[in-house]
Amino acid sequence: MIELTINGTKQKFDVDPEMPLLWALRDIAKLTGSKYGCGKGLCGACTVHIDGQAVRSCIMPISAVVDKQVTTIEGLSEQGDHPVQQAWQDLNVPQCGYCQPGQIMSASALLAQNAAPTDEDINNAMSGNICRCGTYPRIRAAIHKAAK
Ligand code: FES
Repeated sequence: MIELTINGTKQKFDVDPEMPLLWALRDIAKLTGSKYGCGKGLCGACTVHIDGQAVRSCIMPISAVVDKQVTTIEGLSEQGDHPVQQAWQDLNVPQCGYCQPGQIMSASALLAQNAAPTDEDINNAMSGNICRCGTYPRIRAAIHKAAK
């Protein structure tokens, strides 16, 4: 039995220790905000925070996050009112929306470490989050807005 702390709540999982965290979050914990895109750590749709760091949950074995704090998009704020979420709404960032939970989790991890990122900082931090709709200019603008 593997016990994780997800969004501040402890939960037990009777699964293979190698199960990717994303599977446990979506299929067992029913936290479906984190999305499956590539399953290979390449697109960022599955991004969550592990002890505040942006991590690709599709390639993270569940056993590797025991004793760590897992935060998903559902746990980022109480009412969806984290400054990054607010900026996303204010600037109508999403188009299809599929990649956006991962984008928001990467952006919020960036701002927690760098309160006033430059365009270059944003490009570096967000380069692993792919958006097929090409919302990158709005993503960058929203990160700057959330930083204010
Ligand atoms: Fe995890 Fe693409 S689904 S990086």
